Amino acid sequence: MRIVLDIWRQRGPRDPGRFVRYEVPDVSEHMSFLEMLDVLNVGLVERGDDPVAFDSDCREGICGMCGFLVNGDPHGPTHHATICQTHMRHFADGDTLRLEPWRAAAFPVIKDLVVDRSAFDRIIAAGGYVTIRTGSAPEANAILVPKTDADRAMEAAACIGCGACVAACPNASAALFTGAKISHLGLLPQGQPERARRAVTMAVQAREEGFGHCTSIGECAAVCPASIQLEVIARMNRDFVKATLTGRDEAAPVAVFPRRGPAGGGG
Ligand code: FES
Repeated sequence: MRIVLDIWRQRGPRDPGRFVRYEVPDVSEHMSFLEMLDVLNVGLVERGDDPVAFDSDCREGICGMCGFLVNGDPHGPTHHATICQTHMRHFADGDTLRLEPWRAAAFPVIKDLVVDRSAFDRIIAAGGYVTIRTGSAPEANAILVPKTDADRAMEAAACIGCGACVAACPNASAALFTGAKISHLGLLPQGQPERARRAVTMAVQAREEGFGHCTSIGECAAVCPASIQLEVIARMNRDFVKATLTGRDEAAPVAVFPRRGPAGGGG
């Protein structure tokens, strides 16, 4: 099949950027989307042109490195799948696809379809350490975890940190990501000692990175390739309010979420 691509080309953070049209003939329906871009890039390199920059690593939907907008959809039209796991059979011969990077102030464009997602790393780092006894591996049944809690914790831990939730949200909110990271520890006995402090420091860091408010639109959960549910946001909010009202977090600031406009557009 033949695919026409309008791709956002931006040489660097200061370049204004623009869409450039390319045509990729002879695309197999069995190719993944990224393999199709590999074919495009081979042709560009052979012509002496700059290949299109995009992130990828595992190409198996587990690392969270890949991701960009396809016709405005984070990771393309196949919901709950990463773009590396999206195959060309989902498109038709002659389709014109518009590819652009995540659009959010907290995710500045580095080049073409690559954005800087280190804001997510700083949110994780703000969570700090978990207090555990080190030494030999503990006996497996020493700390019993209810099955429902273990299941919910595992579901939250499935977040791969790709950033699609931010790209889909009209407020460019990172609430789904932050809620998932807070929830997967907060649901387990091992995560209880620092639970209150962690909920506050991570939520505050998300705000400081420039992500917007969650206004419960739900676009994030609709596009999340790991199917993270909105309940993680409710759990984060509950932990946050409890920590600040009960004073269980000694470092909790008084006015954590000053009112401000959306932190960027997207999806
Ligand atoms: S490249 Fe790892 S999730 Fe897509």
